[in-house]
Amino acid sequence: MNPDLERLQAYPFERLNQLKAGLKPVDKAPVFLSIGEPKHPTPAFIAQALIEAMDGLAAYPATRGTDALRECMATWLIQRYQLKSLNPATEVLPVNGTREALFAFAQAMIDCTAKRPQVLMPNPFYQIYEGAALLAGAEPVFLNLEAEKGFIPDFDAVSSEQWQDCQLLYVCTPGNPTGAVIPEKVLQTLINKAEQYDFIIASDECYSEIYQDEANPPVGLLQAAANMGNDDFKHCVVFNSLSKRSNVPGLRAGLVAGDADLLKAFLHYRTYHGCAMALPTQVAAAAAWGDEAHVKDNRDQYRQKYQLAKETLSPVFPVDIPPASFYLWLKTPIDEQAFAAQLFEQENITVLPGSYLSRDTATGNPGKNRVRIALVAPVDACRDALSRLAALDYRA
Ligand SMILES: Cc1ncc(COP(=O)(O)O)c(C=O)c1O
Repeated sequence: MNPDLERLQAYPFERLNQLKAGLKPVDKAPVFLSIGEPKHPTPAFIAQALIEAMDGLAAYPATRGTDALRECMATWLIQRYQLKSLNPATEVLPVNGTREALFAFAQAMIDCTAKRPQVLMPNPFYQIYEGAALLAGAEPVFLNLEAEKGFIPDFDAVSSEQWQDCQLLYVCTPGNPTGAVIPEKVLQTLINKAEQYDFIIASDECYSEIYQDEANPPVGLLQAAANMGNDDFKHCVVFNSLSKRSNVPGLRAGLVAGDADLLKAFLHYRTYHGCAMALPTQVAAAAAWGDEAHVKDNRDQYRQKYQLAKETLSPVFPVDIPPASFYLWLKTPIDEQAFAAQLFEQENITVLPGSYLSRDTATGNPGKNRVRIALVAPVDACRDALSRLAALDYRA
């Protein structure tokens, strides 16, 4: 058996189940604000497109997807990020959600015959980055996200030796769990570093469409690259998904786009891996990428919930509405696990202790004294949960 499997940590939700196992909640309506699973209804036109394409089940799909889907995804990327061009034949691929793609990408890209392959990633982080690095035979290197730095990794603190050993850098913008957006200038500095030290930047942008300021959508890595004249996106690959944008986490439809040489190798890997997207899914995905009205409606609902959170929680907890995502990265007055446990026992509300998403480092653990609250439940359920949270009678 692969010994690196032993190095995979328990997934945060396993740890959460263990925490809850010994506890008895009060008899109040349960509310789950722990998992980042969108709960707004799937738009009917997406479900309809899927149903109407069911005859596609009779054919094996190609790993690179249909021309129609790749064109649709390229059109979306060009419009969303004001790109001059993006070649649908070579610079974009369909994937079955970003989770599998973020994992598979490391397996295809890491050269584990190199002396000390390292994969740099934020801390706290989406857990797949670490597992992907470990199973690809690399070492994860954690870059802490601190409030004082706006929850942007301190890339200046990365030594030249570390950049030298870095083969892959994961960034998450907008970030889970902090909602921070990495500024364009910082992305451009990273692209220069990637050029200088020859590594790949994998930018997880699956929250790109859930943002506060309608006039200022979060900048993306391809946009930052194109704006500095890197029109063929060298060293840059982005991961995006319909799960959050279109409320279809069960459809498993996303995209990977950027550097054509890297995508060619990734497609080669995927052909063997066997992860083509079913044809009906491709048709539904094309319909979803082609519509913005439902996405705007989605954003409006999240904005409403953030406002509610601010009004309800501010008298008791410091609340900063992040520029994007649907999370609150709430500072807790007591230990984060005790806080989550007491909230569950006293109010039957489930949130995720921040330390389940982060690792200890030489400069501390940035998930300590934080919980992640996913504002995914419908508005009324969130309103109810937030006032119960504000009334929590916690004990140190
Ligand atoms: C940061 C981040 N990346 C990727 C994913 C995976 O999403 P999907 O596979 O549905 O695209 C998630 C899901 O919660 C996430 O939070």
